Amino acid sequence: MKALVYLGPGKKALEDRQKPDIAAPTDAIVKITKTTICGTDLHILKGDVPTCQPGRILGHEGVGIIDKAGSAVAAFKPGDRVLISCISACGKCVYCRKLMYSHCTTGGWILGNSIDGTQAEYVRIPYADTSLYRVPDGADEEALVMLSDILPTGFECGVLNGKVQPGSTVAIVGAGPIGLAALLTAQFYSPAEIIMIDLDDNRLEVAKRFGATAAVNSADGKAVEKIMKATGERGVDTAIEAVGIPATFELCQRLVAPGGTIANIGVHGTKVDLHLENLWDRNITITTRLVDTVSTPMLLNVVGSKRIDPKLLITHHFKLDHILDAYETFGHAATTRALKVIIET
Ligand SMILES: NC(=O)c1ccc[n+]([C@@H]2O[C@H](COP(=O)([O-])OP(=O)(O)OC[C@H]3O[C@@H](n4cnc5c(N)ncnc54)[C@H](O)[C@@H]3O)[C@@H](O)[C@H]2O)c1
Ligand SMILES: [Zn+2]
Ligand SMILES: [Zn+2]
Repeated sequence: MKALVYLGPGKKALEDRQKPDIAAPTDAIVKITKTTICGTDLHILKGDVPTCQPGRILGHEGVGIIDKAGSAVAAFKPGDRVLISCISACGKCVYCRKLMYSHCTTGGWILGNSIDGTQAEYVRIPYADTSLYRVPDGADEEALVMLSDILPTGFECGVLNGKVQPGSTVAIVGAGPIGLAALLTAQFYSPAEIIMIDLDDNRLEVAKRFGATAAVNSADGKAVEKIMKATGERGVDTAIEAVGIPATFELCQRLVAPGGTIANIGVHGTKVDLHLENLWDRNITITTRLVDTVSTPMLLNVVGSKRIDPKLLITHHFKLDHILDAYETFGHAATTRALKVIIET
């Protein structure tokens, strides 16, 4: 089968690989129909993710059809259409029992990281019963690809942890797919203001179409000033960090109102300063989270009812044969205006 293989920092190739087979009775083999590329795949290619070793097939998102089910798989049979969660969960360990699937002692984020992933014709999914979801009849499969990772991530790490409330004020730093997913799902709670901050005017335009009440380009260094003015010098109740660099986490610390919450989503590769000298008396909360994908069943219902349309995030389509072009397009979002790319097998 064809598969996109990580070959070490800066190196990847579309290779011929052996089709995976069942390794444990709880496994399923899924024939991929649609997959995508995540910002995290680009982090891996930069060499930022040491758990992902050369030779690994990348990808942790997608939908497909069950090709083979292990003898202990009860919920799925060959031919069933499934959504793949980016998080594999045994359902039984101490963390799974706390619904912290991301920290499953034998699962978590392993797909396209420590085991082969979804950017291939077939993938082996461990703990199939608790790591796959049935695709509802009539569902739009491309929209569902956005539910493998980015929608639960924006919602759980940003909106739920950030305690977005009716009438509250929210700032989202970073208008990439994850920040935009937080923007779409924050609207479940009817906040009064959602201010989107980025350096890219095109992405800010998209954010306004997706429901942002204001968009601030922070390139001029005046974002704090502008947002303080817009909030009566209070700051925002929720500041969501969706970039993953020190400058943006520090920006959140300057934007948060007394009593507010900073909800970090970004993957940070370097240390960041915490300004307790400014924050110690401000009654704030800081949260971090690796997406657990516990909200996936709820999000499937919301997407099914057309309350939100995650397809808005899809900008490009490629065949698996042209996945290297898909990486080029996705990797140069500022010029290609790419958000999410769909790769069809
Ligand atoms: N916590 C989790 O479970 C989890 C899951 C998935 C992804 N992530 C992380 O979330 C982050 C966002 O993911 P994405 O796919 O949307 O990434 P992305 O790179 O597509 O988007 C980041 C956005 O931030 C903007 N940006 C960069 N520097 C900025 C600055 N100084 N000020 C304002 N904006 C700036 C960019 O223009 C871009 O639009 C990444 O760090 C990713 O690894 C976390
Ligand atoms: Zn991802
Ligand atoms: Zn577990």
